[in-house]
Amino acid sequence: MKTIQIGLLGLGTVGSGVLQMIQENQAKVAKVTGCELKVKRVLVRHPENYQAVADQVALTSDVDELLNDDDLQIIVELMGGIHPAQEYIEAALKQHKNVVTANKDLIAVAGPQLSQLAQANHCDLMYEASVAGGIPILRTIANSFAADEITAVKGIVNGTTNYILTQMTQQHWSYAQALSKAQELGFAESDPTNDVTGKDAAYKMVILSQFAFGTDVQTSDFKVTGIDQLQAFDVAKAQDFGYVIKLIGLAQVANGGVFVEVAPVLVAQSHPLAAVQNENNAVMVTGKAVGDTLFYGPGAGGLPTANSVLSDITTVTKNLVLQTNGNQFNNYHQHYVPAAPTD
Ligand code: NDP
Ligand code: HSE
Repeated sequence: MKTIQIGLLGLGTVGSGVLQMIQENQAKVAKVTGCELKVKRVLVRHPENYQAVADQVALTSDVDELLNDDDLQIIVELMGGIHPAQEYIEAALKQHKNVVTANKDLIAVAGPQLSQLAQANHCDLMYEASVAGGIPILRTIANSFAADEITAVKGIVNGTTNYILTQMTQQHWSYAQALSKAQELGFAESDPTNDVTGKDAAYKMVILSQFAFGTDVQTSDFKVTGIDQLQAFDVAKAQDFGYVIKLIGLAQVANGGVFVEVAPVLVAQSHPLAAVQNENNAVMVTGKAVGDTLFYGPGAGGLPTANSVLSDITTVTKNLVLQTNGNQFNNYHQHYVPAAPTD
């Protein structure tokens, strides 16, 4: 059986989930792809903190050692942040290595350019895990709404803030206590500022807008309000009046364009989004033909997010098999690639 060798950039909450899933699910992956997956090299800043896996993978803090390894056909970026992740991904694509990432910050800022670079180098660039963690929302929009006209995408797309709001509402925890627990559970970004200020949700709405509407909106184009100014009093008052507060991302067709916003919203307790608790997310996609559809699941966490990363890795692996079997590259890019400029 052919072995597909993988280089991992980052071995934190999601990276360790990916390593675990690959080790535990080889038989299923082999059935689906006809290949065995092997994580050969792993990049971290502090290899000394990862000695528990030193007998399974080659740990390094030298990115060139990893990127120059010709055996590696897939690079999985799970470090987070825009730099140096962008430079590493660009270098990998230029060396004709396929890339899978969960990095919404980077994809929201540079996704279209990176997708073009991937196409130019006949590589896959996939990032299902960048939006709504374990919910397969990007491939659903790309595939299952291919012919329908989407009029709105809205929902809860940040697990940390939903966890905080849930604990403040149900357990009467303080904001600080709930945030600290979300960090401990691995839901929050390494710096949680983007979570609580709404920026993380805004990045995800940028990516969702690209998929749903083909528009290249930026976070600076729309209003973003987080939950960092909310008080326990606000949460309690909302409850008194039959509502819960949820951080909602909205992108909808309006006035010939697309209106996007992220903000804390009063949601009636009877509304389906009010029932979305803890780190779970839910994305409602409205199509002209299909009407309202709702996709629900874990929006953060190691294994749920790793499952989305693995779905991309298996797609890339299937493409590699197609190519080695002499088939033309099938150009299966599930994700948003801007139209080539016409001159
Ligand atoms: P963690 O902070 O848990 O892990 C980050 C890992 O990357 C660590 O192993 C760290 O190594 C390594 N790393 C960071 N910067 C560098 C660098 N410059 N060079 C080499 N290694 C580096 O992050 P997560 O696993 O939580 O998140 C990873 C990505 O997945 C992010 O883009 C995040 O937004 C995304 N994501 C996370 C989800 C979650 O639930 N946590 C859900 C969906 C997406 P060291 O310890 O040595 O510094
Ligand atoms: N920090 C992010 C969240 C991780 O809480 O939603 C998933 O993207």
